[in-house]
Amino acid sequence: MAQEITWELFEKQVAECRLCPLHAGIQHKVPGQGDRHSPLMLVGEGPGQTEDEQGLAFVGAAGQLLTRMLEAIQLPRDRVYICNVVKCRPPFNRVPAPEEAEACRIHLRMQAWLVRPKVIVLLGSTAAKNLLDPEIRITRDRGKWVERKGVWMMPTFHPSALLRDPDKKRLAWEDMKSLRDKLQELHLYEDIYGKEP
Ligand code: URA
Repeated sequence: MAQEITWELFEKQVAECRLCPLHAGIQHKVPGQGDRHSPLMLVGEGPGQTEDEQGLAFVGAAGQLLTRMLEAIQLPRDRVYICNVVKCRPPFNRVPAPEEAEACRIHLRMQAWLVRPKVIVLLGSTAAKNLLDPEIRITRDRGKWVERKGVWMMPTFHPSALLRDPDKKRLAWEDMKSLRDKLQELHLYEDIYGKEP
């Protein structure tokens, strides 16, 4: 009989995962966290040093910026679900290899199935290429909405890119306003905290 997909199964699967070599050099797996019933899911690339130390996604400098960006459109961080393409920190924060992202896909799929978000924001090129289209170029395609099987997806800059190049913040703000508009259009602020902002 097929095994039922549950959060317990997901957690066990990630904790025991050895599907790629990344698990060998880490302190903690970083499965993702937040509101498991949120209509909004954010997907980044992979844990950095602070995330690896704490076992939590987006808690370092990029995560703090992400928190402020969400708050700017009335989204408390604990009301959204946040995770990454890979659940183990790549050495020296390098971009995950295609085989590593592919191996980890089973976890992300299970997570998306469990959360069932209506909107997914892809933070940076790795998330956009892996979830949407390998040909995506973030500078060209950021801010464009795509609907896949009833789920609205939008690529935007990774917050680390904004820390490296503050000139990108203006465009990132446009994308956050577009996210706010999409959530309003779909009446999802009501799901997020029971009323419109
Ligand atoms: N960058 C990511 O892509 N994810 C994190 O969790 C932290 C930094």
